[in-house]
Amino acid sequence: MMRTRPLKVALLGCGVVGSEVARIMTTHADDLAARIGAPVELAGVAVRRPSKVREGIDPALITTDATALVKRGDIDVVIEVIGGIEPARTLITTAFEHGASVVSANKALLAEDGAALHAAAEQHGRDLYYEAAVAGAIPLVRPLRESLAGDKVNRVLGIVNGTTNFILDKMDTSGAGYSEALDEATALGYAEADPTADVEGFDAAAKAAILAGIAFHTRVRIGDVHREGITEVTAADIASARRMGCTVKLLAICERAADGQSVTARVHPAMIPLSHPLASVREAYNAVFVEAEAAGQLMFYGPGAGGAPTASAVLGDLVAVCRNKLNEAPGPGESAYTRLPVSPMGDVVTRYHISLDVADKPGVLAQVATVFAEQGVSIDTVRQKGRQDGGGEASLVVVTHRAPDAALSGTVEALRKLDTVRGVASIMRVEGE
Ligand code: NDP
Ligand code: HSE
Repeated sequence: MMRTRPLKVALLGCGVVGSEVARIMTTHADDLAARIGAPVELAGVAVRRPSKVREGIDPALITTDATALVKRGDIDVVIEVIGGIEPARTLITTAFEHGASVVSANKALLAEDGAALHAAAEQHGRDLYYEAAVAGAIPLVRPLRESLAGDKVNRVLGIVNGTTNFILDKMDTSGAGYSEALDEATALGYAEADPTADVEGFDAAAKAAILAGIAFHTRVRIGDVHREGITEVTAADIASARRMGCTVKLLAICERAADGQSVTARVHPAMIPLSHPLASVREAYNAVFVEAEAAGQLMFYGPGAGGAPTASAVLGDLVAVCRNKLNEAPGPGESAYTRLPVSPMGDVVTRYHISLDVADKPGVLAQVATVFAEQGVSIDTVRQKGRQDGGGEASLVVVTHRAPDAALSGTVEALRKLDTVRGVASIMRVEGE
């Protein structure tokens, strides 16, 4: 039976994502109504600049007073696509207090204050859904939260930032410069309002925190995630990766420790072999591997950024939340019962690719090897090439076996102190083997 009285939706933000949400709500209104069991009506749109022309949106719906909109009392669902911490956080909690459920794409906020938002939703018997906050269009939050709720997830590894993947891909395949590739990603609507969040890894770290929390039924905040961005990745690193049969990707890796007593979450650039499925993830696409005890390895792949793909995830949540509203039964809330501690990066076991400029004379290789041995780091391969420029230097590339990150960074620190090591040209972790 179709309910005739519409469910009222307030849209907070009408930028790259919000404008696509409004467009799909209008063009697919009949289908959405049939799937939900009631029509959905856009009841108000909060923006910062009211005079901006917004195609397909009734100007009478536009307001700059987002607070008044969420306090109206007749709003069933608030869609928050403003971004950032404030005023989004206060608007969301105010929405719960005034009877609305919330759909948000705001990973920065959820990774900072997700626990408090979940608590507020639960206190008021409302829903908080945020599929769009991680990996754009790719269904990942709901599969982890619901489909895999009966399994034990041990590892989540993937590319979760479209902008940085776009930049690294362009640098690798077309030789584009960093700034040129970033400008193109911004123009295509992939980058955040401040692209620092993308290129310095904050955006991916927020997504890693959300994924780790859901996957391991614990609480992980963005501050718990070890974070390195791509601003230090050079054309030389990419060329070096190529010579090893690898490519460079910004990875988010969340792991449950072998003893099951702690978790780790990290974001950093890494070399991965060209044969690895993540190596062929191009442009702004995202891909995430989930390893679960019973299910084995699952791979989720698709557009990770952009207005329409992200709106798809928002609309999916809108349908779910509206159905819950009609059934007067909120969906699943936060599951954080394991309360596992988050271990520091030094405990993570990984591999390093280290490129050194060294003096080209007898005994140098032995000296370098001794430093690795002293730190308990086993060497996998060494490649040395003398320079032909007459400067008496050679390039030495060392790839290690797996070792604790603390031992690897201790090794690099000790190498820097050797007189025969003229410089550490690049250090990058190697993953996916
Ligand atoms: P935009 O910057 O394009 O849009 C932000 C919107 O919020 C604009 O319409 C802006 O108004 C409005 N706004 C800003 N401040 C206020 C305020 N104080 N009150 C009312 N409205 C305000 O951002 P995006 O659409 O790109 O991103 C929105 C959210 O979606 C963010 O949380 C982002 O992280 C997330 N997201 C974005 C993706 C993407 O690919 N772009 C992908 C996945 C998630 P005005 O139009 O007047 O400037
Ligand atoms: N700026 C983000 C990205 C948007 O590039 O992935 C999607 O969350």
